[in-house]
Parts: sequence; structure tokens; C-alpha cells
Amino acid sequence: MSTVDKKSLIEARVNSGLLGQWYPVAKSVEVKATMPYGAKVLGQKLVLWRGADGKINCIEDFCPHRGAPLSFGEIHDGNIGCRYHGVIVNGEGVVVRVPAMPECALEGRKALKHFEVTEAQDAVFVYLPSATQPEAPPLGLPKEFLDPAWTGFLCTSVWGANYRYALDNLADPMHGCYLHSESFTLAYGSKQDLMRLDKTEKGFHVTRVGQVGENFDWSEFVVELGNVYCFLDIPYPPAAGPGGNMRIIGFCTPVDEQTCKVFFWRMRRVEGLARESWRFLYRAALEERHWNVLEQDRVMLEGMPDDARKREMLYQHDLGVSRIRQILTKAAKEQVEAELELAAQ
Ligand code: FES
Ligand SMILES: [Fe+2]
Repeated sequence: MSTVDKKSLIEARVNSGLLGQWYPVAKSVEVKATMPYGAKVLGQKLVLWRGADGKINCIEDFCPHRGAPLSFGEIHDGNIGCRYHGVIVNGEGVVVRVPAMPECALEGRKALKHFEVTEAQDAVFVYLPSATQPEAPPLGLPKEFLDPAWTGFLCTSVWGANYRYALDNLADPMHGCYLHSESFTLAYGSKQDLMRLDKTEKGFHVTRVGQVGENFDWSEFVVELGNVYCFLDIPYPPAAGPGGNMRIIGFCTPVDEQTCKVFFWRMRRVEGLARESWRFLYRAALEERHWNVLEQDRVMLEGMPDDARKREMLYQHDLGVSRIRQILTKAAKEQVEAELELAAQ
């Protein structure tokens, strides 16, 4: 294989999304025991449903008979039945019954891939295996998910942009005081600064040099086996009550090359009565403002051409953007090389 071909395979892998990763695909409440939930991750269509024990099943959204989407079907005794001709498949992707045809040879056949699923903090995560990491590693969770002193809300949104734009956007604190300049605390602080990038134990921290704690001034990426996410703080004025800053924890799931689904947890370290009052205030007043901010990001990213990176001219502020791209490219290179090696055996 020529270097050019390999380079394009690596670029294609970065663009479609890394394998060997856990990706959030839905809110927990969206996956029910009474009807299937269709999702798309890295261009692959999946169907999820909850078994009687509450455990979530996830298989390819493809009927083994003639390919109808199983997500259009129904749940029968914990299995999924195709709407087209009634074929029933279980959570392992095995055909359980072909009701239209007695003693059909399809029965008992493992026809579809199934995927590992786990739930955390109101979200459903699916593991997309890679050649070198076919078994799912444990899903590493942000420490705020594990500490009961933190409370928060999950919001999800589908954006018509490649997930790389959503990650770039999170690695770019400098857009806060421009794009979001009319929003709440995000207008504070200077519009000129330098950026600094520091390595952390599991990823990197990118921050404005001239101000911290006034605006969206820094973000930190955590990159671990099977998982990439980021967090940042939005300073709250005293008027927002006790509890300090609001922390945003973000995951970006590649849906297909033109679409991503973002999962943002908006969290605060606040307990007792203050917790209840923040949760109330959030629902009553703050949530809408935060949605408006998120919409500004969505509209901007959707307006950018898919191949913007071919013409862009980065400058000093794009340290974080460059770093997250390097991380993705390095991981994609390792995956592609491992796959080529396996294919050559
Ligand atoms: S396509 Fe599903 S049963 Fe025929
Ligand atoms: Fe933003």
C-alpha cells in the first residue's frame, strides 16, 4: 500500500470517527422496553431496546431477512420483531423465530452484530469495537459523575456538522467572548489574549493566558482507552446562587460524516437546599439561556464547509484545536495500521 493510500485511510478514519470507543447515543429515558430506538453512530445504523430486566440490547438495525430497519418493528417478549414480515431477533442478533415459515433454516442463526451497552448519568453508551480492542474496556467516567455532591442536567442535540467541528469548538475557548458575547457571563473579559496548552495526566488543558474565571476561559480534554471527553467551566455571577461555577462536560458522537450528536452535562457542585433551588432556577430560567448559547455554536458549525480545514489558516489561539486533531490522527493511524497488518496475515 502506498503512503498516499494509507494517509487517505487515516484521514477517512478520523472523519468517520475512531473505533474502539464508547459513544453516548441516547438519553436513558429514550430507550424503552416497549418500543425500539433507532440510532446511528459512525455511519452504522443500530437499534436499541430494553429487556424485561432493564438491561439494554443493541444490534445492527437491519433485518436478517431482507434488510428492513428493525427499529420500525415491535418488541415481543424481550426480542425485536421486524415490521415487514415478522422475523424475530434477540439481543445477541440471533434469529429466534420466522413466524411466516414453519421450520425455517434461518432460526437459530447468529445473523447480526451486537454491541456492548452501558448507562451512566442518564445516558446510554455503546461500544464500537476496533481490531485491536474488540472487547470493551471499562467506560472511564468524569469524576463529577461519581461524586454525589455534583448534580446536573443532560442535554443532547443533533448538529449538522462533522463531530470534528464540535471537538474543535470545545478546544477553542477564544470563541466564547465573540460568538457568545451577548450571553450571560460570556460577554465578560477581554477580547484579546494568548493561549497556553498544558499536558495533563490523561489529555490536555488549554487556557487563555490573560484571564481565568471570567468567561469560558479554558477547557480540558480527557483521552483514555475507549473514551474522549472534555470539560470546561462557565463562571456564574453571585446572582445565580450558591454553588460556584457551572461545569460543562461534553461528549461528541459521530453520527455520520456530516452529522454529530453532542451530549452536554451541565453540572454544579451544590448540595442541600441550594441544590434544589439551583435545579429549580435552572429549569425555570437558565436552561433556555444555555440552549441559546448552544444554538449559536450549532449554527456557526453547520455554516462551515465540510472541508474548511483545507483552506483554514490557524494562529496562536488554535493550540487546542491542533492538539485534539493530533490526538485523533495518531489514534486513527494506529487503528488503520493494525487493520492493515491483520488483513495481510
Ligand atoms: S425484512 Fe424483516 S421480516 Fe422480512
Ligand atoms: Fe460555544
